[in-house]
Parts: sequence; structure tokens; C-alpha cells
Amino acid sequence: MADEPAEVTEETAEASGAHIAVHWKEEEYYQPPAKFVAQANASDPAILEQFTEDKFPECFEAYADLLTWDKKWDTVLDTSNAPFWKWFVGGELNASYNCVDRHLADKANKAALIWVPEPEDEVHQAITYRELYVRVNEFAAVLKSLGLKAGDRITFHMPMVPELPVAMLAAARLGVIHSQVFGGFSGAAAGHRIADSGSNVLVTMDGYYRSGELVDHKIKADEAVETAAKEGQQVDKVLVFRRYPGQYSSATPMVEGRDVFVDDLLKDHKREIVEPARLKSTDSLFLMYTSGTTGRPKGCQHSIGGYLSYVAGTSKYYQDIHPDDTYWCMADIGWITGHSYIVYGPLALGTTSVMYEGTPNYPDAARPWRIAEQLGVNIFHTSPTAIRMLRKVSPDGPKDFNVHFKHMTTVGEPIEPEVWRWYYHNVGKDDAAIVDTWWQTETGGFLGSTLPAIHPMKPGSCGPGALGILPAIFDEDGNEVPKGSGKAGNIVIRNPWPGVFQTIWGQPERFVQTYYAKYNKNDKSTDWHDWPYFAGDGATQAEDGYFRILGRVDDVINVAGHRLGTKELESAALTVTEVGEAAAVPVIDDIRGRVVEMYISLKPGIEPSQEIENKVRDAIVTDIGKIARPKNIWIVPDMPKTRSGKIMRRVIAATSNFADTGDITTLANPEVVEKIRQQVQSAKVARDDVPRKLSETELAEIKNFGSE
Ligand code: WTA
Repeated sequence: MADEPAEVTEETAEASGAHIAVHWKEEEYYQPPAKFVAQANASDPAILEQFTEDKFPECFEAYADLLTWDKKWDTVLDTSNAPFWKWFVGGELNASYNCVDRHLADKANKAALIWVPEPEDEVHQAITYRELYVRVNEFAAVLKSLGLKAGDRITFHMPMVPELPVAMLAAARLGVIHSQVFGGFSGAAAGHRIADSGSNVLVTMDGYYRSGELVDHKIKADEAVETAAKEGQQVDKVLVFRRYPGQYSSATPMVEGRDVFVDDLLKDHKREIVEPARLKSTDSLFLMYTSGTTGRPKGCQHSIGGYLSYVAGTSKYYQDIHPDDTYWCMADIGWITGHSYIVYGPLALGTTSVMYEGTPNYPDAARPWRIAEQLGVNIFHTSPTAIRMLRKVSPDGPKDFNVHFKHMTTVGEPIEPEVWRWYYHNVGKDDAAIVDTWWQTETGGFLGSTLPAIHPMKPGSCGPGALGILPAIFDEDGNEVPKGSGKAGNIVIRNPWPGVFQTIWGQPERFVQTYYAKYNKNDKSTDWHDWPYFAGDGATQAEDGYFRILGRVDDVINVAGHRLGTKELESAALTVTEVGEAAAVPVIDDIRGRVVEMYISLKPGIEPSQEIENKVRDAIVTDIGKIARPKNIWIVPDMPKTRSGKIMRRVIAATSNFADTGDITTLANPEVVEKIRQQVQSAKVARDDVPRKLSETELAEIKNFGSE
């Protein structure tokens, strides 16, 4: 039955700290279709030889050569300030020029972007490269007139509308570092990021469509500005794009002197051309915030030359994008996937990139197939969460549609082999090459993937390291775990690559500490071999060299492919005055991968109530956004704690997942564990909310949660 939950893979594991011994049922290989191989950008296995370790770092010049440089680089990789790697040093270029201007010679009238509004009765917008050029220049002129210049930061809090890539490319044209905050994040979340990045201009939109509703988005700008002000950052201007020019789709008043409609500003800059700034390869293109183990999000700072080279190269070889393809990535541009593989990679290659405003299952589950059929999409890119959801609500996939994908991607979370097979058979009609791309906000582009025409696919595994990427699995002491050993460990990348982020904005020590300190033995070394990149994911490597990613090893919960830090969730809950302690844990979910459950204990003398529960839920939605809304909030008499007072997250995680709580005899208050178990599990049984039987790796994840 198609709507059955994903079958649990057959595997067993013994959990022992961070290394789990995993004995998978080895999955079978799927060969790429011959038709695909015949047309692929990388079809000759000789390409693998061009990227072997002995050719590093020069091998990556092949990616840089895909771009147009104002000045060629002198040094491919400068390691002198390790681990702050510098790529293509001495080179000069402009990302906006590379994604727009240079295509005017031969693709001026080809669609760069096709925007699909959520309401089906609204017409699509096809924006040619020529039109994109005009819009980018005019908006760059607006930004310039506000005094913005190279190196300044600007925050966007934009939904999925074409004005977003236009704004990004306009900022890039001037060298202004953009920071797009996911539109679904709350105003406060945008405000924290505005303050952290030191932006004094916010670009937003009055409203946008989501699940049939015209959402008031401008209201979040007011909250954002207020939050930023509390953190000492003044926002001088809020630029408001209008979903329907000439009318205002928000009930929130415009603030005199601060808020301006972009269409009004544009009137003064019609036909203006702004020369693309000549920028250093090592200057920064954008910040993308992500969650970590503290409450403060990390602004991952990406370079122009290295990043753009890397996303162009990987878009060409891994997404197999040819200029004539119609490529649709369903991600949101508010995440790294959208930056790299909706905007910068595809546009650098001069292809047609589709953007969709709304939810994939609006107004019904066949919407993605109607869009793909109507636009002739032949490359399709989405997440396991979307695939699980479509599998449930549209089990036949595009069977009755004239849809043929040559290539499909899955990204952002581990995909269960059963779900992968549904994607292959029912969406790909047994005739598409699939890549399961493993990577991160920090890494700019793909790190682990099969090359679609060269490597066979294996459900549930991302594949080997991408071209020029040297991954390995290390145990806690930095010893390499041999492939085929069946042991899991921490996946690292032994070498730098052009797409790697430059630093965490304003937190260089945290950058070194989080990503490099763990396996570095000599912090004075300028030899890259001494600085393996610690990705924060657990993984295993099979005999064939393919990696299987198991998930995060830190306190980050990956909900529907989005990283949520437990500390961020907990500090939001702690803003509710009645709350004494808070702990967030992951619960396995058949659609969203993981969901969050929140445990709360109250200050002395305060009685539990529905009202407090609502306050906690509201606090999280207000501080982070709806995506962080916990599935359940449990107000418990006390938290299970160690004698030193540390909350045992693994014990409550086990309770929520109906797993064994393990040894609790060392707790300061072991008696509370049984009380909590009865309270939580009986409520979950009553709500018909009992998770399916967990696989051994899932059990190991729960058992180790928060142990570091
Ligand atoms: C997880 C998204 C398994 C992983 C591009 C990583 C994956 C985190 C995969 C980064 C995959 C990403 N298979 N897990 N193919 N891709 N992940 O920063 O835990 O939003 O560390 O970047 O998602 O999430 P981020």
C-alpha cells in the first residue's frame, strides 16, 4: 500500500558512544539509463582521473574556468592563514555579471527564471536574461542610491518570488553582502540575523501565497526592526516589494520615513545601468545563517570566486544542467539549496530555472506534476520530506502526466531506501538518473554524490566523495575507520574545496572551534592536511566507497531538512516566565524525518495549564517561526538530571520515541523517569501518536541524543 509508512531497513547496530557498528542489508545498484549517459556533461570516467588527490588543488581550476573573470587568479589555494582557506587569490570577478550579463550575447531572449505563482489562475512570469539584466540593474541602482556599497550587508526577508533573485543579483553587482532569511522564519528571527550581520536595510514583501492564503508578511518587518533595535542595530530603510504592484497586500501600516515601496523607488531609476563592481575572488557574496549548538545562529560567510566556481561546476556535472534544460528545484531560496542550485549555479550556466511560490500540495497533490508538464521540466530537485509527502498523497506520481525527468535529486536528509525506490519508479518512471547529494550550508555545494552518468545509484547512500572532495570517517580519536568495516563514525573532509565557507560572520574562533579544532593536531600548521573539516554528521562507508549519512551528531534536529538548534528552541521556551527548565528532543516522523517535542518544567508553585503550553508554543513560533512549532509540549514534574544537574535529553528522547531509556540508576532523580513515561506515553497512545518501530540506527541516534 502506497500510504504505508516507509519500511524499516534491515540492519542491526550496537551503539557505543559515537561509533555504532552497522550491518546493513546491502542495497542493490541501479544503473543510469543509457539515454541519460549519452547526453551527460560528465560521461567519460576519465573525468575522475582529473580530480585525484595528486592533482589537488589545481583540479578545481576546471570549475573556475566555467566563469568569466575580469582578472585571472595568481594562486589557486592560499593556505597561509589556515583554516581560513582562500581560493583563486588575485582573481577578480562579479557574480551578477556571470549570472546575467555574460548570457546576453547568445541567450538574451531565453528564460532565465520562470516563476509559478501559487494561485493556479495567475499567469506565470517568464523572465528572459535580457529582462533579468534590466531588473537587476534597476534594483542595483536603487540600492546604490541608498548609499550601499561593496562590503556592506543587506538583509532580505523574502518569500519565493522573482524579486528575490533579482535583489540577490543586484546586491552581488555592487559587492553588497546579502543575507536572505527564510521567509517562513519569524520577524524576531529575521531581527536577530539583521543585528548579527549589521544590516541597516531590510528588503521584504507585503504578502505572498501559501496554501491558498495571501499571508501578511510585512508585519514581520516591524517585528524584525524592533528586535534588531533591541540588539543595538538600527534599520534605516525597509524596502517593500508588492505582490500586486499598485496595491498593498498587507494590513500593516507603512512607517513614515522608514518604509518605502520598491515600485515607487524604481520609478526614479528606470533604464539605469550599474556597472558590475570588479571584486576580489575572496570578497564575500552572501551570509546564510544556520543553527548550531548555541542559541546564536551562525552566519556562514561565502566567497565570490570559490563559491561561484564550485556551484557552477557541480551544477554542470552533478545536476547535469545544459543550457537547454528546464530545471526545477523545489527548495526555498531562503536555504542554501536555493542559493546554490536555484540561483547561482543554474544561472551561471545560463539555464532556465523554475521557481514556485507555494506549497507543493496546493491545491492538490498533483500540482508539481501539472507544473512540470506545463513547463517541460526535465530536471527535478527536491527533498526526502517532499518525496515522502508526495508518496503518501500522490502514490502514482506523474503517471498520468506527460512528464519525463532525465535527472532527479534528493537533498537535505537521509532518504529511506523504500522511499528512494518510490521516487525512482513512480516519479522517475524507471528512466531518470538520481543523485542523493549530501552537503551543508557551510559547504556551499555538494560533498558526497554519485556522478549521475558514471556511478551506479544505491538507494540510501549518497555515493562517493564529489569530484576533488576527499571524505573519510574518523573515530573520536581521529583514527580513520576503514571502509567496509561496518563501523560508523564522524564524516570529515580531509581537504579544502572552493565552495567551503570562509568563516562564521563575526565569530572566527567559533568557526575554528566548531569545524576544525576536533581533528587538528597542530594549530600553527599551514598545511591543509592537518585541518580535516568536521561536518557534524555520523556516517558509514561501504566496501564500494559509498557513504551512507546517518544524521547529525550534535544537538541539532533536522526537521523536514531544516536544521533547528535545541538551544534556540529552549531559549525561546524559557522566555515564558512560568517556565523553569526546557529541553527539546527529536521524534522520528514518517513524513518530516524528525519533529520536535518540548519538555517543560515549571517554576516552584506554578501549576501546569493549557495556557502555559500555548504560551510556550507561541514563544517558539514568535522567536523562530512556524517550522519550529513543537509537535507536543509536555509539562512534566521535573526533568531527569544527572547529579551535576545536567538534563538527560537522551532519556526524554527515548520516552517520546517509545524506546528504552537505558541505564538511569546514575540519575539524581531516577524516580521521575517512570512518572514522565506514564504521562507522555499514555497521552501519545490516546492521541494515536505512537511512532513506528525504530530502526537500529534511529534507536542509536535517540540513545545518544545530547550526549556530547
Ligand atoms: C543533512 C542542506 C543525508 C546532514 C544542503 C547535513 C543529508 C545537514 C543530506 C545540512 C543527504 C544534507 N543525506 N543527510 N543527502 N543532505 N543532509 O545546512 O545532516 O540545511 O549536516 O544543508 O542536512 O543541512 P543544511
